[in-house]
Amino acid sequence: MRYLVTSALPYANGPIHLGHIAGAYLPADIYVRSLRNNKREVLYICGTDEHGVPITINAEQNGKTPTQVVAENHKIIEDAFRRLEMSFDIFSGTSTCPDHAKLSQDFFLTLQKNGFISERDVDQFYCDHDAMFLPDRYVEGVCPHCGKGARGDQCDYCGNALNSLDLKEPKCKICSKTPVVKSSRHWFLDLDKFQKDLDIWLKGKPHWKANVKAFCEQWFQRGLEPRGITRDISWGVPVPIDGATGKVLYVWFDAPIGYISFTIELFRKLGRTEDWKKWWQGGKDVKLVHFIGKDNIVFHAIIWPAMLMGQKADWKLPDEIPANEFLNLEGDKFSTSKNYAIWVHEFLNDFSADSIRYYLAQIAPEAKDADFSLKGFQTANNSELADIYGNFVNRVLSFTRKFFDGTLGGEVTFTDAETQLWVEAKKEADTIKECYDTYKVRDAVFHLMELGRIANKYVDTSAPWSLRKTDEKRCKAVLLTCLNLIDTLATAFEPITPEASRKVKKMLNMPETFDFDTLCTQPMKPGHTIGEPVVLYPKIEDAAIAVWRDKLGLKS
Ligand code: 2FM
Ligand code: ZN
Repeated sequence: MRYLVTSALPYANGPIHLGHIAGAYLPADIYVRSLRNNKREVLYICGTDEHGVPITINAEQNGKTPTQVVAENHKIIEDAFRRLEMSFDIFSGTSTCPDHAKLSQDFFLTLQKNGFISERDVDQFYCDHDAMFLPDRYVEGVCPHCGKGARGDQCDYCGNALNSLDLKEPKCKICSKTPVVKSSRHWFLDLDKFQKDLDIWLKGKPHWKANVKAFCEQWFQRGLEPRGITRDISWGVPVPIDGATGKVLYVWFDAPIGYISFTIELFRKLGRTEDWKKWWQGGKDVKLVHFIGKDNIVFHAIIWPAMLMGQKADWKLPDEIPANEFLNLEGDKFSTSKNYAIWVHEFLNDFSADSIRYYLAQIAPEAKDADFSLKGFQTANNSELADIYGNFVNRVLSFTRKFFDGTLGGEVTFTDAETQLWVEAKKEADTIKECYDTYKVRDAVFHLMELGRIANKYVDTSAPWSLRKTDEKRCKAVLLTCLNLIDTLATAFEPITPEASRKVKKMLNMPETFDFDTLCTQPMKPGHTIGEPVVLYPKIEDAAIAVWRDKLGLKS
């Protein structure tokens, strides 16, 4: 089996915050790294989602072009991901990928040829002053439900989704003049025609997460309806039809196609232009896994599969859609508009990627919404990473250096204590692998720490510091066992804390590889010489946490 893994394409309309990371990115990266450690063939595809109305509005408000907005945010997001050690095979963008527009247009035309696209005129606001149709977000007015100020797509006060034509006292967002109603031609994906096939397809996924299945069933019960897939704006992929000048494909139509166009781009860069087909067409031996947040379920589990089915070719359909719930921040929702968020690129200036990844994995919103707390983050780093994992590594390595000059040579005496230890350790290691395979990163973290606790208990009970004076062969056996435990810990931890794992391998003087087959195999033999120990996880001080509580306006 080969694995084609994607993370939802983040909008290039602003930086990304920790809430995003917890849903669609870190769990995917952990999965991908564990697959690689199991020597599976895997491709991990991502990039920014660069079209859509929020980007044109952002550009207008800041006196920039959409291209500038996209380029700036793409860079910020890409840098943040790199520093967080997201291990994409490609990180492209829907407006810059050379294959994207044409492929999106081909998708549209094939759907049309196959009879899955209908067209009709739709009433819409038009601004005479700006000579343009106004997509929902370009209209502001009074909410028909609560009477407060609202945008055309949604009222932020009462939370109702709106149709801009229902707004009272509508105004153009650009010039504040009152728009007129005009009719405009639009194209629709006839989702109703896919309901039967989608239903059958989904029934073949009984193991999918409950949130995804429940969501789809609700949609099926209500009945699928044609969905508009074109918009009257100038930024996006042009609708490839005569008479559709000034219209583009809806951003949610072209975005998932990015998963394919980025794969095409990747293989072209590798000089193997045709190889992308082996992943996306046919591919019975390929498992396609889309990591997303719960707000993206309808697009990935219903609309996107319909778009693929409607091509009437052998396109790969999603095999797994691990959709995560949301992460809150200190008990409140992340809010970009209120700037109540922890931006990844800023947080990384103060804290290590590994500490962030570890805590986010520990609280991953897998089955229900979770909460990020700065104190929780500090405790996870200080009491677990530093005290349990880091401390074990440090005391074993320092002791080995100090009393044996880094080399445990000569004769060593193992006993039943070691045999039993490895049985226990292997059980944990097997469980950890299984957690990785089944997207259970919270449980993986728990069992990794269990492994750390087993290691600490073993060294405490065996007390090599006393054995050194009484039984040197036993002392060396215990230390060597601890070094091998450390090697196993580093390999098992790699998907979650890759930097620490690299550091540990270096300290052990072992190759920087993380093959899961080596877990609990004791690759270091008597005579092995270790390298120089360094502190793995410095403690996070209260003052550093106070700075961030302050930034969020929280009481200390
Ligand atoms: O919700 C979002 O952030 C979207 N930009 C996700 C797109 S996923 C994919 F389909 F491209
Ligand atoms: Zn106007």
